[in-house]
Amino acid sequence: EKGEYRHFMEKEIHEQPDSVQHTLSEYLDLVTGKVKPQGVDFAAIDRIQIVACGTAFYAGQIGRYAFEKLAGLPCDVEIASEFRYRSPAVSKTTLAVAVSQSGETADTLASLTWCKAQGLPTAAVVNVHTSSMAREASVLWPTHAGPEIGVASTKAFTAQVAALLALAVAAGVARGRIDAAAEAELVKALFESPRVIAEALRMDETIRAVTQELSKATDVLFLGRGPMFPLAMEGALKLKEISYIHAEGYAAGELKHGPIALIDEETPTIALAPLDDVFDKTASNLQEIAARGGPVIMITPENAPDPHGVGIRRIDAPDCHPLIAPLVYAVPMQLLAYYTAVQKGTDVDQPRNLAKSVTVE
Ligand code: M6R
Repeated sequence: EKGEYRHFMEKEIHEQPDSVQHTLSEYLDLVTGKVKPQGVDFAAIDRIQIVACGTAFYAGQIGRYAFEKLAGLPCDVEIASEFRYRSPAVSKTTLAVAVSQSGETADTLASLTWCKAQGLPTAAVVNVHTSSMAREASVLWPTHAGPEIGVASTKAFTAQVAALLALAVAAGVARGRIDAAAEAELVKALFESPRVIAEALRMDETIRAVTQELSKATDVLFLGRGPMFPLAMEGALKLKEISYIHAEGYAAGELKHGPIALIDEETPTIALAPLDDVFDKTASNLQEIAARGGPVIMITPENAPDPHGVGIRRIDAPDCHPLIAPLVYAVPMQLLAYYTAVQKGTDVDQPRNLAKSVTVE
């Protein structure tokens, strides 16, 4: 039931401190500050192949940054409908990981089955623990988002990201890349995320205010670097799905290779700019947009320096450890799409043409 909320999506957005906490507890021990055993020998593999569709694909891409950075594990992420039909070259030391809320998405399941038949070790990050993928994979890596009713995925996405970040820390520990002190620091940072997500939920009034303008746009650009790049694509997907506004997510550095030609007074840019090691690069991309008359909404912590662009509007986000930024910045992405859709009066929980679970190709 929706309780005090107007839509399931709104309720599910607000459940995220709990669903992330619950999911992290599956993989990490809050008391000892250590990772738990994960059922996979990360020291025995030399590559990870993630397969997924839609939002789960973006969660996988965020996971990739963490697996490579924290565990030194090469990680490929591919859309399942492409992976399964292109005869990919795989080796038996590659761990195949399916990421799926439902565990029933036809293309993801077929990719997983194919990898298994090739003799690859398999794991599935799924929210429905009795699903086909949960049964098919050798190792089940559950997310604990609880039932997700809204067609647009919100809490299932952050649960996937939380699980993948925790697993990347576990992989780093198993591979001797993360010592006890670093493990304790990263586990602590992850367990801070439910509190910081709750703080991000308090951005809703500020976000609601900008959606009056956003709902009039026909095209919106979302920009980010590093893990904020897949999150920008997720933000664009959310907006498309429920408000029917055309949106694209781009890597901020790719802008001058084409998309900057789209910039005009009518095309807003939403920028995800946590205070990380590429903040200055993103900020200078935003100045370029503002200089061309494009309205920019920069989601950034209050203590971040000002990029001094006329037309750059800031929305304060909570400051956080860079590891958990994708979990924290997911919230403004979801709220932006949600309030824009409410403003437009679309059917938020049941957007046109979409099904919750895509069990046909
Ligand atoms: O159940 P799955 O996670 O496998 O579903 C994958 C996609 O169909 C799903 O994430 C879809 O993109 C959502 N509508 C996104 O909000």
